[in-house]
Amino acid sequence: MVAGIRTVNLRKVYTSAPPVAAGTGGFSFGAPKPKAKGKQPKPEIVALDGISLDILPGEIFCLLGPNGAGKSTTVGVLTTRVRPTSGQAFIGEHDVWQAQVTVKRLIGVVAQRPNLDFSLTAREILLFHGAYFGLSSHERGKRAEVLLERFKLTDRADQMVRGFSGGMMQRLSIARAMMHDPQVLFLDEPSASRPRHRLGNSAGTESFRSWWLLAASPARRAFAGPASAAPGAGWRPGSPRH
Ligand SMILES: Nc1ncnc2c1ncn2[C@@H]1O[C@H](COP(=O)(O)OP(=O)(O)OP(=O)(O)O)[C@@H](O)[C@H]1O
Ligand SMILES: [Mg+2]
Repeated sequence: MVAGIRTVNLRKVYTSAPPVAAGTGGFSFGAPKPKAKGKQPKPEIVALDGISLDILPGEIFCLLGPNGAGKSTTVGVLTTRVRPTSGQAFIGEHDVWQAQVTVKRLIGVVAQRPNLDFSLTAREILLFHGAYFGLSSHERGKRAEVLLERFKLTDRADQMVRGFSGGMMQRLSIARAMMHDPQVLFLDEPSASRPRHRLGNSAGTESFRSWWLLAASPARRAFAGPASAAPGAGWRPGSPRH
């Protein structure tokens, strides 16, 4: 059984300052609290304000929204990185926050910001990831080979990642996310390093679809990308795109 995704009235209010270079917008400051001596009031940033989603197993779902809308925060909650302030998030039947280890095995994640280890080669990155998820030496070697081939990185497999172009890093990040054969694949801004002429429309939906076609082996994985909870934002392969 392949896992779907569900969120119920998810809220996230950040009470610490946003990280340097984080997007802005889509936030509000709470009512000023009484000032303790020498202390500044903590800003409250409402990143998610009651988001409820239902994404079917195998569905390709694109979440669209302006900068700061909360797309990465939604992905963060669903991938165990961000603790929600309230509400619930599920991968399959597993509550993401309660069953983090189980959930981590079910998901593959490509973060918005590149997080590859620059001191390793492409192959080493894949093998390390496979070992981390408990794949045998034989299995991880085989899967790395297949994924390097699928993502057109075979000729760069034994080169250090620091010399890769942005698009190559992006492809390697997706290959890494697929090493442990996850049931759900999260791609946060997967089209960021794609050549402009291959973007299908302003929403980049065509581009997400291209990534999916590249990533999907048997079409049994769900894909959740940057998206909005707007009605109609979800679509299935073969359905009309807009
Ligand atoms: N770790 C954090 N601490 C404090 N505020 C944060 C943090 N991460 C995100 N925010 C704030 O939460 C809001 C939503 O940010 P988020 O990164 O989820 O948006 P996004 O839709 O992914 O934006 P973008 O399109 O720019 O990637 C923004 O106002 C952002 O500044
Ligand atoms: Mg983001």
